[in-house]
Amino acid sequence: MYRFQLTTTLCYGPDSLRALGTLDGRRVLVVTDAFMSSTPLMARVRTELAGATAVEVFSEVKPNPDLTAVTAGLRAFLDFAPDAIVALGGGSPIDTAKAVRKLALELGHQLPAGLVVIPTTSGTGSEVTSFAVITDEHSHTKLPLTAVEMLPEIAILDPEAVGTAPPRLTADSGMDAVSHAIEAYVAKGSNDFSDALAEKALRLADTSLVRCFRDGTDAEARERQHNAATMAGIAFQNAGLGIVHSLSHAIGGTFPVAHGRLNAILLPVVTCFNAGDLGFRPHEIGPVARRYAALAKALGVSASTERNLVLALNAWVEKLRTDLGMPATLRAAGVDRAAFTAAVPALAATAHKDFCTSGNPVPVTETDLATLLKRIL
Ligand SMILES: NC(=O)c1ccc[n+]([C@@H]2O[C@H](COP(=O)([O-])OP(=O)(O)OC[C@H]3O[C@@H](n4cnc5c(N)ncnc54)[C@H](O)[C@@H]3O)[C@@H](O)[C@H]2O)c1
Ligand SMILES: [Fe+2]
Repeated sequence: MYRFQLTTTLCYGPDSLRALGTLDGRRVLVVTDAFMSSTPLMARVRTELAGATAVEVFSEVKPNPDLTAVTAGLRAFLDFAPDAIVALGGGSPIDTAKAVRKLALELGHQLPAGLVVIPTTSGTGSEVTSFAVITDEHSHTKLPLTAVEMLPEIAILDPEAVGTAPPRLTADSGMDAVSHAIEAYVAKGSNDFSDALAEKALRLADTSLVRCFRDGTDAEARERQHNAATMAGIAFQNAGLGIVHSLSHAIGGTFPVAHGRLNAILLPVVTCFNAGDLGFRPHEIGPVARRYAALAKALGVSASTERNLVLALNAWVEKLRTDLGMPATLRAAGVDRAAFTAAVPALAATAHKDFCTSGNPVPVTETDLATLLKRIL
């Protein structure tokens, strides 16, 4: 027996913020960051929460939230005793809210009106997953936490919420979504349902992501890319991820490069590795390479052999990366060669232990991961 989890209600499209009306008569804790708390979007959220009994705003979340931010959020929760949490922002406020909810629950505090999330980036998929990525500031590692209680009850996918995202953030979060779709498609847990969502997510990103990057006010492209990110999130929630994410978590804990930017650098290198380093002759193509080839076909890429389809998928990722003005290597992303080289053994060990590694379609050793890390420098 297999299980495909559908928990979160999606309210999408223009005006979807009206869904906050379901919190009338409730005590609402808004979890967000300093920037978002002073935006017109926050003002609209307050307007839609006019029927709430009381609204408290916790805005101490920083990008790549750490244990200190989660502890401060928990204190705000315990002081205010909310019925509901509204998380407003990118993956950082959403993940913080999820972790706070989980910790509060463990301390015996229920959240009767649930967790409502309003993503303002189109990338992490956190609005539909049971994952939260929290940084341990002492060990410099990103801790991917998972608990079914962290699944939000409602996700409000208002494309206008992303309209203010600058090009660089649009590119970084967009490539995060693309990597979710590709990794979910080949992951050990992939299935017909997650495949459908991953394929559609990639097709939407194919036609919308660069448009969003070039013109943030392109409402049609924003809406499609926003939906794509959530579809990719549902796909990986159910199929799992792989070593693009394990390596990205490990590197991102130590070197300050955005998660999606790291994933974009890692994707082609990991695809080659998972596909058997493409050192095979066409008749020797393995089942994992065949999956990448099938995804390339679903994307509308044509090539004469399955091997060439895998290469074409990589070429598609590389072109997208170039069109989004992103670096192809860690050096180009500003990482210091000597510091990174010295860190490789520790990063490989951390990535090997990351739970995304267990979803990778082929087994990997620490030595494999160290080799891949050196390749992306
Ligand atoms: N939970 C998951 O499954 C999952 C998956 C992938 C990544 N993550 C995590 O999510 C975090 C990254 O999240 P993110 O990329 O969405 O960004 P973010 O939440 O870290 O925000 C980055 C910056 O962009 C700003 N910002 C956000 N939305 C904006 C908008 N609409 N307009 C202008 N500025 C805006 C924020 O104020 C912040 O300064 C990382 O910690 C990453 O590890 C989690
Ligand atoms: Fe991700």
